[in-house]
Amino acid sequence: MAGSKATDLAIDHHHSAPIHGVSALRVLPDEGGTRNWDRIIVDERIKSRLLSHALLALAHEKEFYALPGALQRLVILSGPPGTGKTTLSVGLAEVVSYELADKGDTCLVEVNPHALPSEMLGESQRNVARLLDTSLPELSLRYRHLVVVIDEVESFAVRRSSASFEANPIDVHRASDAVLEGMDRLMKRCPNVLVVATTNFPNAIDEAFTSRADLVLSIAIPDVETASKIIAQSLDELAGIWSEIRALADDKALHRQLAQACKGWDGRQLRRLPLKALSENKELALSPERLQAEHLHRATTI
Ligand SMILES: Nc1ncnc2c1ncn2[C@@H]1O[C@H](COP(=O)(O)OP(=O)(O)O)[C@@H](O)[C@H]1O
Ligand SMILES: [Mg+2]
Repeated sequence: MAGSKATDLAIDHHHSAPIHGVSALRVLPDEGGTRNWDRIIVDERIKSRLLSHALLALAHEKEFYALPGALQRLVILSGPPGTGKTTLSVGLAEVVSYELADKGDTCLVEVNPHALPSEMLGESQRNVARLLDTSLPELSLRYRHLVVVIDEVESFAVRRSSASFEANPIDVHRASDAVLEGMDRLMKRCPNVLVVATTNFPNAIDEAFTSRADLVLSIAIPDVETASKIIAQSLDELAGIWSEIRALADDKALHRQLAQACKGWDGRQLRRLPLKALSENKELALSPERLQAEHLHRATTI
């Protein structure tokens, strides 16, 4: 994940200065609507808990500010890769921005911990400190609500007991303490900030980090029901372009058969099933409208 420098530096248009470790800034609501939230198909209870928790934290910041320790504005989403955690975190900022629009804008900040090199712990510590103590507090003054997505936080908050890279364990301690303390300071100073952290490896995260979260949700590999819906959604999108595919997009029995054949697939793989089928041969690639159920069945086996 050697992200290029260009994508690791987001330009803050007010200052036109790049912010280290921030890969994107979006002021919401914007023309993107809630498309990231809508595209992820998960158990409704997960979406509903996530949204309610975010609203509780952001809509009553003053009340909770007066009650120290009452509510941590940190949410953790954990689960295998490709299950929609990153998309859902970004989507959460989108829906929150609509729910709270009458109070003011929501700024979405996507943090890329990979941009804060861990092999140079001293340097990394300074970058983390700058991000948590300066850049994010500045943004929180400028926008009514701030949703900070820390994607793949394991590279940021390495569990002390399992830190395996060749660094002095004392430095690892120090770096991870710096992150935790920085997070605490950020939460204390900036009541209008909600942090959503995602992780592919829940076991790699420091317990001191998870214990700071009031809500830790695990996102699982889709069950057959959910998988059918993901396949249906993906076919539906294609049918929007090639109307000949409409019959396949509406065939619920077919979606179910395909889902059953794709047990254990993650959301990303399920979504790509129709594209996988289309790339099976030259004729289909050139004329996607010729897609048939048999092509989809075949794509589940290769
Ligand atoms: N439950 C899901 N429903 C619909 N699409 C999904 C789902 N999970 C993953 N995807 C698709 O896979 C892509 C990658 O998801 P992502 O949010 O990056 O997952 P993660 O962060 O868990 O690795 C998304 O853009 C989305 O299109
Ligand atoms: Mg992700």
